[in-house]
Amino acid sequence: ALRCHGRRCRPSDYSALATCGLSNAIPRATFTAPSPLVRTQLRTAAQAANGTWRPVSVLDEWVAKEARPISLRQLMVFGRSLTESRLISSANYVRTELPVRIAHRIRDMQKLPYVVVTNRHIEEVYKLYYNAFDTFRKVKEIRTLEDNEKFCEIISQNLKGHLTVIPKLAMGILECGGLMDPKELDHFMNVILRSRISRRVIAEQHLSLTETFNSPYFSPGATLSESDFIGEVFIKCSAKDVISRCAKAVTQLARTTNGPDVQVPEVRIDGHLNASFPYILSHLEYIVGELLRNSVQAVIDRHQKQPDHASSPPPPIEVTICEAQEHVIIRISDRGGGIPRDELPYLWSFSKGPLSQKRLENLGQVPRMAATMQELHVTDELGRADLKAPTYLGSLSTLTSRPPNLRLGMGLPLSRVYAEYWAGSLNLHSLEGYGVDAFLQISRLGNKNEQLTTRASMDA
Ligand code: COI
Repeated sequence: ALRCHGRRCRPSDYSALATCGLSNAIPRATFTAPSPLVRTQLRTAAQAANGTWRPVSVLDEWVAKEARPISLRQLMVFGRSLTESRLISSANYVRTELPVRIAHRIRDMQKLPYVVVTNRHIEEVYKLYYNAFDTFRKVKEIRTLEDNEKFCEIISQNLKGHLTVIPKLAMGILECGGLMDPKELDHFMNVILRSRISRRVIAEQHLSLTETFNSPYFSPGATLSESDFIGEVFIKCSAKDVISRCAKAVTQLARTTNGPDVQVPEVRIDGHLNASFPYILSHLEYIVGELLRNSVQAVIDRHQKQPDHASSPPPPIEVTICEAQEHVIIRISDRGGGIPRDELPYLWSFSKGPLSQKRLENLGQVPRMAATMQELHVTDELGRADLKAPTYLGSLSTLTSRPPNLRLGMGLPLSRVYAEYWAGSLNLHSLEGYGVDAFLQISRLGNKNEQLTTRASMDA
């Protein structure tokens, strides 16, 4: 076990955190000495834990505040008839909410064992978050449209700057796999990713409302129709349309990855084909795109091993949509042979699994990662010049541009984070030697608050 001054280094062991040296079990290249900022802040956290602390840090003031979660319905109602004063209220909500949400995550990072928080990738994320926290907490009340324009620029810059967060976190977590209880590490990752989604949702929603307000076609107070977007929320998101679009993109990706002659399985959709619900389109596209991509590749791989594969098409992927009173359930069934036994226990893990080393190597090739289209959209608005470094894109419209065969091991666990964020769920049943059934449950009424904490089953 890892030892700090003769004691096992655990998250709760704050006095060790503040003083311990780095274990010689950790490769030097990976764990650099922490910066003075991080050292001071860890010391404050250590004092907080052993009772010698006084509320001196500005972070403590913000950690003491609770986040104010919102629902899709609230976002819709608020943005439905947009006026100047509503836009200004939205700006002030984001202005005060972002530093609260970031402060909580900074405190989580301070509670990590010293060896984890000083991992170079995790430390870089820590610095990004601390800078963002410091920037947003200092923004003065937004009173005018001009103030709002300046505020939107700050938001856009931060959204763009944080495109490096996912690959950095993913690499840090994989490198720290053996240094902390994997369950705790995965819990930390789930919380931090969910919180990141939440911040991007409120920030992007505000940018989107501002864009609507500034559009020459916009008339203040005008009520939108059902087929519209309100900011980033698609009021009537059709399950069938999303699945069809994802299937098309995934088919194209499969051809790029496996060669133009590959036999790609057909994706058949049945069930309640008219099911619709309010949702953030890019979140749904991310989840469905990842599930279909896994299914399609598994079926192709299995089919190619069959002796008669050239003469018979691969078995189709069956997608069933089920619309219930409060939920829409999407089941994706494939006959790709099921999940390999050695991968099964680590399906949802960010930190552990038989492919960890490969994932780490692959992540090294992905400096920036936009998990949804909005993330890219923001970057584009700021100018293509900013996109010089390759940005890995995970969402539907860009599935085809992701590096083929680059397994990052993020698709499934991140899809579940997206699903649970809007009070839904994602589960897989693997039938060994036969195939996989994936069940995605979506809360259909849009009245559930964003879920900022993780599921009880994960926390256990
Ligand atoms: C993130 O993407 O991690 C963020 O926190 C974005 C926010 C600063 C607007």
